[in-house]
Amino acid sequence: MKVLLTGATGFIGSQLAYRLIAEDHEVAIVVRPDSQLNILQAVLPRIQVHVYDGSYASLLHALQAAQPEVVIHVASLFLAQHKPEDVARLVESNLSFPTELLEAMSQLGIKQLINTGTSWEHYQNEAYNPVNLYAATKQAFKALLTYYVEAQGFKAITLKLFDTYGPGDTRPKLFTFLRKTAKSGETLCMSPGEQMLDLVYIDDVINAYLIAANRLVQNEVHQQETFVVSSEKPMKLRDLVTIYCQLLGKQLSIQWGARPYRPREVMIPWNKGDRLPGWEPRIALEDGIKRAFASADSDK
Ligand SMILES: NC(=O)c1ccc[n+]([C@@H]2O[C@H](COP(=O)([O-])OP(=O)(O)OC[C@H]3O[C@@H](n4cnc5c(N)ncnc54)[C@H](OP(=O)(O)O)[C@@H]3O)[C@@H](O)[C@H]2O)c1
Repeated sequence: MKVLLTGATGFIGSQLAYRLIAEDHEVAIVVRPDSQLNILQAVLPRIQVHVYDGSYASLLHALQAAQPEVVIHVASLFLAQHKPEDVARLVESNLSFPTELLEAMSQLGIKQLINTGTSWEHYQNEAYNPVNLYAATKQAFKALLTYYVEAQGFKAITLKLFDTYGPGDTRPKLFTFLRKTAKSGETLCMSPGEQMLDLVYIDDVINAYLIAANRLVQNEVHQQETFVVSSEKPMKLRDLVTIYCQLLGKQLSIQWGARPYRPREVMIPWNKGDRLPGWEPRIALEDGIKRAFASADSDK
């Protein structure tokens, strides 16, 4: 496949880029002028890099040069909570940039897209109730995408992701905090820990993108489809930490309840939506955590 990928410098996008290259696909990426490419170092010689300088023309040029069969849109700005000064960049990253991408695709007759959504569009298991403004921008972009599907003949798959974890994840999330706590021996202040998390191992998430891309290329998509990429086995945060400590072979000092829950904390993840045909999570939580440990050891 010839693929153009956004978000390739992020956690999921970078691993997707490695996998696409490993499977001999042609990969072009769209990055920002200040994007750090080190994470892609080992595959960079095999990737066509295009810089989006904020102009429509730069996107048009990237697509023209890459001529992708499929565009995989992974880029996003994630903010658990926003401040007034964040609104402009949330809209820029999650709406303006990808909409200009669609417009440029439409102009060039490139009409197959994989989009990335989030389970956080479904607070309290509702059809649409965004947990935060970030999730609202995800839903808003999907509404814009529907115009391109209905009026411009696009075919699109939106993959709604849950929590992704695995080696190389440096984002300020649960396992990063636990890893740092294990190393420092300090006490970690947590919420009461009764919320449930739906964790999917990174390789399984990457598999979902590849299956979705094949589905588009094989012409199996009629207009627009949305699928969930869920473990379907949500687990209480407290239980997750217990498993983590067991696998680590060491007790961590955790002060449960030292922090309040976040506003609109997701206590039970969304459990509706259709699973991507042909996809299932393969890596059990214990295996995923062990793989992350092994990778952290090999980095030392
Ligand atoms: N990870 C999860 O658990 C999870 C859960 C649900 C949904 N998702 C979705 O999955 C996708 C990937 O998540 P991730 O965790 O891999 O994200 P990440 O590590 O934060 O990476 C975000 C990527 O988006 C790029 N980006 C942000 N704003 C951009 C803009 N205005 N123009 C161009 N590129 C821009 C970043 O580029 P720079 O290097 O220039 O900053 C980076 O490559 C996102 O769409 C996210 O919403 C993730």
